[in-house]
This record gives sequence, structure tokens and C-alpha cells, in this order.
Amino acid sequence: MSRETLIDLLYLFSATTFLVALKGLGSPKHARRGNLVAAFGMLVAIVATFFKYVDGHSLHHVGLILLAMFIGAIIAVPTARFVEMTAMPQLVAIFNGVGGGAASLVSITEFVHIKSSHPATYVTLEVLLGVLIGTVSFAGSAIAFAKLQELMTGRPITYPGQQIINAVVGLIAVALIITILVSGSTPLLWTLLALSFVLGVAFVLPIGGADVPVLISLLNSFTGLAVAASGFTLGSNLLIIAGTLVGASGILLTRLMSKAMGRSLSNVLFSAFGSVITATGADGGEARSVRSGTPEDIGVLLSFASKVVLIPGYGLAVSQAQQVLRELAELLEAKDVQVFYAIHPVAGRMPGHMNVLLAEANVPYEDLIEMDEANSELQTADVAMVVGANDTVNPAAANDPSSPIYGMPIIHADLAENVVFLKRSMRPGFAGIDNELLYNPKTILVFGDAKDTLTKLVAVVKAS
Ligand code: TAP
Repeated sequence: MSRETLIDLLYLFSATTFLVALKGLGSPKHARRGNLVAAFGMLVAIVATFFKYVDGHSLHHVGLILLAMFIGAIIAVPTARFVEMTAMPQLVAIFNGVGGGAASLVSITEFVHIKSSHPATYVTLEVLLGVLIGTVSFAGSAIAFAKLQELMTGRPITYPGQQIINAVVGLIAVALIITILVSGSTPLLWTLLALSFVLGVAFVLPIGGADVPVLISLLNSFTGLAVAASGFTLGSNLLIIAGTLVGASGILLTRLMSKAMGRSLSNVLFSAFGSVITATGADGGEARSVRSGTPEDIGVLLSFASKVVLIPGYGLAVSQAQQVLRELAELLEAKDVQVFYAIHPVAGRMPGHMNVLLAEANVPYEDLIEMDEANSELQTADVAMVVGANDTVNPAAANDPSSPIYGMPIIHADLAENVVFLKRSMRPGFAGIDNELLYNPKTILVFGDAKDTLTKLVAVVKAS
């Protein structure tokens, strides 16, 4: 077998591992294995690439390449290892951004490299698309990172005529690409690069902080396309396959997330959602009475229930109460109480947030039930305990056509005989809107940090 054939076979093997990995990533049970399979495939691809070019004597600066890989690894490994769960969306944003930036740099280098040989128009077009999409992804991801890391306001930043200005910038970028195709001008390439950067920033500014995870998934898809464009430029089938897989899965995930939030993708991207708080919130609006309870009351209620449905949300991640929640569930199960964890697809701030959080606390996957199953269990549940969730149980999504979240599928906590909310205040959730369920006569609120309250509940249940 010739060396070329062997390298092609190794690339084919890597591409296959990426497909197997994607299949694994489709279920929480196999996600970890899927990740390892993809990492192994990538390792094989890197080794094969070295093998290919070193032997052809066309690989220069091997030392510098290895040094760059080493620096990348010592930054990335500890960052990924020690990142807080709540900071995961911004980590994904920054990693995605550097991917887009790298694809753009490859395209720029290729432009300079191939320019003198008067390449076919389609080759230059691939390069220019790589620059445009990769830079938009880089700049957009950098702003997304800054919003999530609270380096800048998470609120949508809007100004008059914003969408029109963005559209004009986009059209100028297209006109520049056409002009560069005709003229081959390098100065115009730099102008395209600067404009793509502006476009990436301008595109992300009007998107509110909590909508940013949906945006990141879309930018991820852009990075995939930029990588695929680099693959065409470099004649690398593996890059084309890997880039297309990222592009396609990114766009599918974006659609799934928008659907689970009951909003169209254009609404997420262009409506500046979250700029207006419609709720009475913590400190404003008319005072309405709610029923509050103590951990002692709730501990007794839980101990004597036969079926309890736990509904975790973003607040569980904020308070890092997943271990205590599992401990409470186990104590209740030991008392023959049936316990389920009801998982809403957009609970938290990133896809699978609750699954990952609860897996961290070793909650068995069999105890997690999806929204539809949860809604049928809730009809016969004695207690629905909402732990740091809000929008995902807000009945306005089902009953109030004027609500911004109308149409979003919810977990119907209100079907249970008793509803318990663990939260710190009357503040609303991400959507910024009031939740009628808090005022429902069957609802009891236990105010305080979820971890503190759960710890007290554990003590009461142990004692009862
Ligand atoms: P939210 O509606 O955001 O509500 C979170 C609740 O947790 C708040 O009511 C807050 O009330 C409470 N909380 C915060 N910190 C707490 C703590 N330390 N202890 C106790 N409670 C605490 O959460 P959700 O129900 O999970 O809904 C998710 C929202 O995010 C949806 O609107 C969804 O559309 C949106 N979103 C989700 C995603 C994905 S992919 N998951 C992506 C983008 C947007 P207090 O402040 O009163 O404590």
C-alpha cells in the first residue's frame, strides 16, 4: 500500500470516528464516549497530516508548529478541566471563536500564497468566504464571550436603524468579495477582513445575554462552514467533512433550541429579547400576596408524599445544589416516595444543562424524565418542587397569548396537588416576566438560596 493510500485511509478512519462521535453525543448516556471517540479521531488526523507533509518535505517550521500546539494545549486543558458549570457557555463561545479565527487566518495565508498563480475564480471565492465567515464567527464569539462573562452588559444593545445598518454592511462585504474576485486586490482583502469583524460585532450586539447560547450554536455552525471552506482551499477532504458536520449539527441544534424556547430563530436574533422587563420584578409593581413556607413545613410535606416531581432550573446551577438535591431524593426514595427529575429542554442556559449538572452529582439517567412524560406524571404527583426554575413552568406560556413566551412548551407543575418553589426572591427568570404560578393558592414559596434550603430539607426529612 502506498503512503498516500495509507494517509487517505487514516483520514477516512478519522471522518468515520466523527460520525460515530456525533451519534454518541446524541444521548447523555453515550456522550462522554462520543467525545473520546472524536478526540481519538482528531489525534489520528493530526498524526496523519504530519506524516503526509513531513515526508513530502513541504512542512516547514515544524518546531514552531509543535510549540504553538503545546501552548494551545497548556491553555486549553486546564481551562476546560476547571471551568465552572455555569461558565460553560462562555468557554464554548471563546473556543468556537478561535476556531473561526484560525479558519480565517488559513484563508488569508492561502490568498497571499496563491494570488500570483492566478487561481480559478471558484478557488478565490472559497478563500474569501473563509475570511468572511471565519472572521464574523471570531468577532461574534468574542462579543458573546464578553456578554456572558459580564465584561460588558448582557442586555441587548440597540440603536435606531440597526438592522438596516447591518444589512448595508453585509451588502458592502458581498460587493467587496465580487470586486476582489475581479481585481485580486490584497488591500481590498484587508478591507473585507475589517468589515467582517465589524459585521460579527454588530450582529451580536442586539442579542440579549441569555439568548447568546442559541447564537453561539449558530456561530458554531458558521465556524464549521469556514473550516469546510478552508478544506476546499487546502484540498483536504477531512476538513471539508469535519467542517460540514459542525456546520450542519450547529444549525440543527440552533433550530432545536429556538423551537424549545417557543421562538423563531429570527425572533432570537433580531427582536432584542430581554431589553424590556415586563414583570413587576423584585421591587416594582403592585404588591400581591404569596404563600411562603419554612423548610420544616416542606420537609414534612415531602416525607409524607407518595410521588414527588423535582423540576430543576437555572437557579440549581447558580447555587450548585445538585449534590444536595440528589441526597434529598435518595432520602425520600428510602421512605418509599417515588421521585422523578423533570427536565425541560431549555432549563438552564445551555443545551443539556440540567442533564450535565445532575450527571455531575451521579443522579441515575433513569430518574430523569423528559417534559411530556413529566406532564403525565405530574397529574398524579403530590408535590412538584421547582428548584431554581421559573420560565420553564410559567403557565403564561400556555394561557396568555400576549406573553412574550406564549407558545413555549412548559412543564405543568400546576397539575400537581402542591407546588413548592425554592428561589431567593420574587424576581423573574430569564424572560423577565411575572409567573402567575407563584400566586396560585396551591403554591408555597421557600425563599433562600437553593443549596441552603435543600440542606435544611435534608435535615428535616432525615429527622421525620
Ligand atoms: P429561569 O426562568 O431563568 O429562572 C431561574 C430562577 O432561578 C429565577 O427565578 C431565580 O429566582 C432562581 N435562582 C437563581 N439563583 C438561585 C439560587 N442561588 N437559589 C435559588 N434560586 C435561584 O430558569 P429556567 O426555568 O431554567 O428557564 C431557562 C430560561 O433560559 C428560559 O427562559 C429559556 O428560554 C432561557 N434560555 C435557555 C437556554 C438553554 S439552551 N437552556 C438558552 C438560552 C436561554 P431568584 O432570583 O428569585 O432566586
